[in-house]
Amino acid sequence: MAGRRSQALDPMAGDRETAAMIHAKPDSDPPLLAVLKGDRRDPPPVWLMRQAGRYLPEYRALRAEKGGFLELVYDSDAAAEITLQPIRRFGMDGAILFSDILIVPHAMGQGLSFGVGEGPQLTPALGDGVLDGLEPQPLHFQKIYETVAKVRAQLPPAVTMLGFAGSPWTIATYMVAGHGSKDQAEARRLAYRDPAAFQALIDRIVAVTVDYLSGQIEAGAQAVQLFDSWAGSLAPAQFDRWVIAPTAEIVSQLMVRHGEVPIIGFPKGAGAKLAAYAAETGVDAVGLDETIDPEWADAMLPPDMPVQGNLDPLALIAGGEALTSSVARIRAAFDERPHVFNLGHGILPDAPIAHVEQLLEMLRRPL
Ligand code: CP3
Repeated sequence: MAGRRSQALDPMAGDRETAAMIHAKPDSDPPLLAVLKGDRRDPPPVWLMRQAGRYLPEYRALRAEKGGFLELVYDSDAAAEITLQPIRRFGMDGAILFSDILIVPHAMGQGLSFGVGEGPQLTPALGDGVLDGLEPQPLHFQKIYETVAKVRAQLPPAVTMLGFAGSPWTIATYMVAGHGSKDQAEARRLAYRDPAAFQALIDRIVAVTVDYLSGQIEAGAQAVQLFDSWAGSLAPAQFDRWVIAPTAEIVSQLMVRHGEVPIIGFPKGAGAKLAAYAAETGVDAVGLDETIDPEWADAMLPPDMPVQGNLDPLALIAGGEALTSSVARIRAAFDERPHVFNLGHGILPDAPIAHVEQLLEMLRRPL
């Protein structure tokens, strides 16, 4: 297998027995998990980023009843229910924990709110990257672990439970600015102006994230995804330092604690830097955004490395020929490697449910 396992084993490439133990794929692995461990499946298993969310009327109803997004996230019964909604409705192969990447800064002590139509706000914004004065709130994570355990207990064995976290760079962009932005200028500026302070912040996020993902795995997550939504905003040397290096650190620490659990890295917007990301972080699988040409990715990535993606969320909304031709192109490009079908980014709130149903029906037909 490509990724961290072969990397970790490379110096001992002859040690096939160790490799066989680490790669052990019990027959009972559900299809999505089997593909993430390096098997091919036709048809490919499928889940959609943000599959639990606003395009579903049953989500909107529960949100209206509970009053807000964070109220849902920290109510483990509600969050488990929302995680299961797309599984019941569509029969997805993966259930992604209903939560948010910004739970990590919240647990590190920043205030967090999601104002209607405003996007998330973190207070105080860190500005200079220094965490002094924040009071960590580790109990926030306990609620999330409770959700994972509740979902896993109710999940059919053919469905894989996915945990997640944001990658340190993306989390740092929100912590420094206190909100989202188009160009992540505040964090990029700090990283140039005071790399030592920025490094200290990244190191702290790495440590918390390793604990947090370990907690999710111990509660029942069978694979985890690192969302690096803003990986695309960095110059090459900065990408190496703030995306590749901290991701590699998380992967190697998780490898020690939970070597059997696959890690999907999703460096959105990485473009041509995807090759280095796949080779150097040690992730088991890479998520591709919709701007990546699937044929290019197939030619460039190690042939046995699982990929995930990468239908344009707007092609899903358009439906019809735009949808069928995009799906056909993605499936054809990846027909010889382990492939998890997904979108290139989160499903949009105005995605028609009928188009999601058509997509699943299309995918379940053999090529
Ligand atoms: O994929 C899933 O269904 C699981 C849940 C999940 C959410 N957010 C729920 C959510 C996941 C995996 C995320 C990841 C996330 N959150 C990312 C990385 C992926 C990406 O989209 O790039 C980022 C950058 C965030 C931060 C975030 N959360 C923003 C910027 C916003 C506001 C904008 C928006 O899309 O609504 C959120 C809110 C959020 N996270 C909602 C949901 C369902 C909407 C809350 C609501 O109003 O009901």
